[in-house]
Amino acid sequence: MNSVKQPIYLDYNATTPCDPRVVQAMLPYFTEIYGNPANGLHVLGRKAALAVETAREQVANLIKARSNEIFFTSGATESNHLAILGTAEFAPASRRKVITCAIEHKAVLEPCKRLAERGFEVVILPVDENGMVRLSDLEKALDNNTFLVSIQSANNEIGTLQPISNITSMAHHYGALVHTDAAQAAGKIPVDVNEWEVDLLSISAHKMYGPKGIGALYVRGGRRKIPIRPILEGGGQENGLRAGTLNVPGIVGFGAACEIAIAEMPTEAIRIQSLRDELEKNLLENISNLRINARYAPRLPNTISLTFEGEEADALLARLPQLMMSTG
Ligand SMILES: Cc1ncc(COP(=O)(O)O)c(C=O)c1O
Repeated sequence: MNSVKQPIYLDYNATTPCDPRVVQAMLPYFTEIYGNPANGLHVLGRKAALAVETAREQVANLIKARSNEIFFTSGATESNHLAILGTAEFAPASRRKVITCAIEHKAVLEPCKRLAERGFEVVILPVDENGMVRLSDLEKALDNNTFLVSIQSANNEIGTLQPISNITSMAHHYGALVHTDAAQAAGKIPVDVNEWEVDLLSISAHKMYGPKGIGALYVRGGRRKIPIRPILEGGGQENGLRAGTLNVPGIVGFGAACEIAIAEMPTEAIRIQSLRDELEKNLLENISNLRINARYAPRLPNTISLTFEGEEADALLARLPQLMMSTG
């Protein structure tokens, strides 16, 4: 009998493996079509530019946006910074409040902290026991001084889905912009920027079987509709919003991952959710001190968050080295 236990990777919200079809799509852009898409004077530059625009269309399709509303970045961290810090640059003097929530990723909380240092009032809404923002708390916090509401679409640890459409209509009533960090939602559940009516939305390829180091920021109506100042300036790429030579293989891989997600999400979400539900049922039947967090909240189909009463999570995982999971 083989006594070596096979590792089990259960950390897909931290990062996913790259789909082999994504890798195949990327390969020619490392060694054959390596031109700089900013240079339309030769065929390799033009081919690279064409591939970038095809990928932009694929990414836009995933979230029901227009391709001129998609700006490539290095990932959701950068997209969140660009959304929050970039729009704050043009916040009118009469609007100096930002509203976010306690379970945001640090890639949202840190730029909000930066704004607090610059004199903005930052309101961090608490969440209920399921990780949901209470709309009554949001209503109390909103006023005509609010410039931005940034609430995640889906949480990375417990998977809770926030009521983004409700949040947007409330925030827009007060004339505030809405940003959502959809790094965990995109590719796992349907994301429709028009249904949600968000102004800015961050996504990341490596959370959905794409490569690491590439993401995008959706900006409603492009740069002219939502005033936003670049963080990185230089060569004027991405319509002047994000300078730097484009990561063409990464962008092509991101586009391929989006196309795969569009085709496979409906069946994959059902398959993964049924595996998740079965795992939860078996765990509950066999372990007495177990609590499943946010079990009855709307949540991502792939996510499971467990509390073992009286157990330290890190100590527990140290005893199970073949299980690859996150604690939080
Ligand atoms: C909700 C959320 N936002 C942002 C990030 C950061 O994404 P990236 O690694 O693409 O910068 C992550 C990933 O850990 C995340 O889960």
